Amino acid sequence: KITAIKAREVLDSRGNPTVEAEIQLADGSTARGISPSGASTGEKEAVELRDGDKSRYQGKGVEIAVSGLNKEVNGAISGREFDSQEAFDKQLIELDGTANKSRLGANAMLAASIAYARVSSVSKKIPLYRQLVQRDKYLMPVPCMNVINGGRHADNNVDFQEFMIAPHNAPSFKESIRMGEEVFHTLKSLLSGKGYSTGVGDEGGFAPNLKSNEEAVEVIMEAITKAGYKPGEDISICLDPATSEMWKDGKYSLFKSTKQNYTSDQLIDLWEEWINKYPIVLLEDGLGENDWEGWKRMTDRLGSKAELVGDDIFCTNPEIIQRGIDAGIGNSVLIKLNQIGTIWETLQAVELAQKNNYHCFISHRSGETEDTTIADLVVATNAGHIKTGSGCRSERISKFNQLLRIEEELGANSVFAGKSTFKGFL
Ligand code: PGA
Ligand code: ZN
Repeated sequence: KITAIKAREVLDSRGNPTVEAEIQLADGSTARGISPSGASTGEKEAVELRDGDKSRYQGKGVEIAVSGLNKEVNGAISGREFDSQEAFDKQLIELDGTANKSRLGANAMLAASIAYARVSSVSKKIPLYRQLVQRDKYLMPVPCMNVINGGRHADNNVDFQEFMIAPHNAPSFKESIRMGEEVFHTLKSLLSGKGYSTGVGDEGGFAPNLKSNEEAVEVIMEAITKAGYKPGEDISICLDPATSEMWKDGKYSLFKSTKQNYTSDQLIDLWEEWINKYPIVLLEDGLGENDWEGWKRMTDRLGSKAELVGDDIFCTNPEIIQRGIDAGIGNSVLIKLNQIGTIWETLQAVELAQKNNYHCFISHRSGETEDTTIADLVVATNAGHIKTGSGCRSERISKFNQLLRIEEELGANSVFAGKSTFKGFL
C-alpha cells in the first residue's frame, strides 16, 4: 500500500532541472525515480512539462510538474494499493487525461512510474529487472558506446550526432565493456596525436573538429585496430546521425561542417556507401521523422544490410510503431522511457516490436542522471544492446556499473548477447 509520493526538482547532466519522485509504502519500503531529458527530440514525444518562467533556470524549471505529483497524484494514490505496474501507470494516464501527457507532464509521470517499479522491487526484495519482467535466463547487452559526439550534442563541426562502437566479440558484458573502454582511451591519444581536441560532448564522446564527417568513422577504425581489435570481427560501428534535425523543405541540410543539401535518396546512397566500406551494423534515424517515404525506400535498400533503428520516427509509441510495422519501415525500434512516459507503455512498445521481429535498442537521453533504470530495462527485455553514452562521465557509466552488478548477480542465469545481436548484419 502506498503511503505517499513526494517529488522534487533535481538536476540532470546538463545542469537543467528535472523531476525526481519518491514513493513510500506502508511496509517501510521507499524508492526514487528520475526522468532524463533529450535535446534532439522527436515531434511526437510525450510532453516534458517545463514552467516557462524565465526568471528561473531560463524557463526550464519543473516546479509545476513537481507540484502536480505532490498534490494531485499524491492525493489520488496515497492509501491505495495497485496490483501491477499496468494498474499504477494507467492511473497516472487517467489522471493526466491528455493524449500526449501534457497536463501532468511526461517528466513527472515517468519519475513516478520508475519510483513505483523500484519500490515494488524493494518491497518484494527482488532486483528491478526481475520486477519488470520475470524470466529464467536473461540476456546481457552489447554496450554501444558513443565515442564521437556531434550534431546537437556537441559544439564541434561534425553534423552527425553519434558514432558508436559495439564490442560484440566478447564472452561477457564485463569483457565487452573493457574492450570498449580500451578503444575509447586509444581514441583519445589518437585524436590528441593528430592535434585534435579531446574535450567531450553531452554523452561523453569526444567532440573534435574534423576534416569531414567521414573522418569520425576513419579515426574510430584506426582506434579499434590500434587497441588490438579487428574492426567488424571484434568490434563493429553503429551510427545515429539524428537526421530529423537536418530536415528542411523536403531536404536534409547539413548544418555544421558544410551547408550541403541531400535529398533522401542521396542520403541513402551515402549510408549504403558507408555500410559497404565500413563495418557498420546499425544505423539509427538515417532519415528523418517526417520522411516516411524515404524511410520505406531506405528499408528496402538497406534493411538486409544493417539494423535500421527508428528513434524520432517511432517515439517509443506503440501506435506509431504499429504503423511503421504495417508500412515496412525500419527493422528496429529505439526505446526511450521518457518518449512515451511510463514503464508499462514502454514494455508494451518493446513487446509489440519483438512480436513483429523488430529489434529493440534501449537508450538513454542526452540529458541523463544517476538513475540507472535503463540498465535493468535492457536486461529485463532481452533486447541485446543498449546505448548509454561513451566511456566516461558518471551519468553514463552508472548504467554500465549497474550492468556489471547485474551480470555478476545473475551468474549462470545470464548469457552475453554478443554477435547474435547483429546476426545477419556482421
Ligand atoms: P536525445 O538524443 O536524447 O538528445 O534525443 C539521443 C538520440 O537521438 O538518440
Ligand atoms: Zn536518436
